[in-house]
Amino acid sequence: MSTFKAPKGTYDLIPPDSATYLAVREAIAAPLRNSGYGYIETPGFESVELFARGVGESTDIVTKEMYAFETKGGDRLALRPEGTASVLRAALEANLHKAGNLPVKLWYSGSYYRYERPQKGRYRHFSQVGAEAIGAEDPALDAELIILGDQAYRSLGLRNFRILLNSLGDKECRPVYRTALQDFLRGLSLDEDTLRRAEINPLRVLDDKRGDVQKQLVGAPLLRDYLCDACKAYHEEVRELITAAGVSFEDDPKLVRGLDYYTRTTFEFVHDGLGSQSAVGGGGRYDGLSEMIGGPALPSVGWALGVDRTVLALEAEGVSLELPASTSVFAVPLGDEARRMLFGVVTELRKVGVAADFSYGGKGLKGAMKNANRSGARYTVVAGERDLADGVVQLKDMESGEQVAVGVNEIVAELEARLS
Ligand code: HAM
Repeated sequence: MSTFKAPKGTYDLIPPDSATYLAVREAIAAPLRNSGYGYIETPGFESVELFARGVGESTDIVTKEMYAFETKGGDRLALRPEGTASVLRAALEANLHKAGNLPVKLWYSGSYYRYERPQKGRYRHFSQVGAEAIGAEDPALDAELIILGDQAYRSLGLRNFRILLNSLGDKECRPVYRTALQDFLRGLSLDEDTLRRAEINPLRVLDDKRGDVQKQLVGAPLLRDYLCDACKAYHEEVRELITAAGVSFEDDPKLVRGLDYYTRTTFEFVHDGLGSQSAVGGGGRYDGLSEMIGGPALPSVGWALGVDRTVLALEAEGVSLELPASTSVFAVPLGDEARRMLFGVVTELRKVGVAADFSYGGKGLKGAMKNANRSGARYTVVAGERDLADGVVQLKDMESGEQVAVGVNEIVAELEARLS
């Protein structure tokens, strides 16, 4: 073992478990690809200012959790703690919104970094697959994203997740609510930090997990009762569209998200088998974000699903994904001449698209067959000196145990036919 370990709050993805992660990413991306979302990739770091303005100066993400640093050239950068601000920045920079086709629908998959206190399901390096639909105010778009998230989880075989839904209002009604909530919070016995938070970002106080705070929050004014008519109608339409799609959700009037850019629709996918880090995904509408980072008004909506927590949710439900073996054919040469010939067969197989692997390192038959077994290959091809003299290889079906001699010149076609 080396003296180095993965940094605190991180872990390595290694085979065979890494295959599950890839499959989860694929499963989340599939419904997006199928619904008009194009793939986007942005840098792993951005200007600190983008996140400060986008995610919010007073959020935990910006004040406590950002990996911010100054480069040798004097630029203030941060490892990205989330994807939405970056994706919107990139879309604006490339003028995608001017190409005329709104909404601009984008999906992404990558690593994100937050300096959080590590625990199960909460890491300093984690992975998300996300989607952003930029430049349209349409309840059907909000509904589409919620439905696609539901579809992604269901396609993986997850059942014990719930969708929490709320509306955070808009710039008309939220300020009125904010004042009412502040008045209420000022009357409670809260510690200094929390009182300060109530002045800067009162909605965040609703998200305080401490029991004594939660107890005092019973009876707090709810945004639901302050929504303006436009927000109410919009939210009602989103609810109806999701319901009509057969997706169940729970209204959660206390749902506040940890990022400041949200307006109107907000939602979270939570899984009941994960303990305190129960949010497997989340998102919502962010109609003001573009202007906050210097762009034109572009009402938008999106979500990000956490790959790490989705894998934990699968484990919690005891779901194991059916992953096809990555190798179909394993070749075992006995002797130098057989090695040259079989290496050629393996190369041919790979060329025609058959997943093939080879016994390297001059192992004996026993050791090589062990490798063949471990590879999960359906077939092994063995050849020794006598086979070469006869112009054949031994083709073994690892499932039935049946073995037949096949001509060297026919083996590639034979395997292709058997595996198709
Ligand atoms: P978020 O709720 O901060 O939203 O993160 C989304 C998901 O990423 C979480 O539900 C969780 O599964 C995963 N996640 C977040 N932090 C960690 C962590 N420390 N360890 C493991 N997993 C984590 C956003 O990031 C928004 N950008 C979502 C969005 C897109 N809103 C609109 N568009």
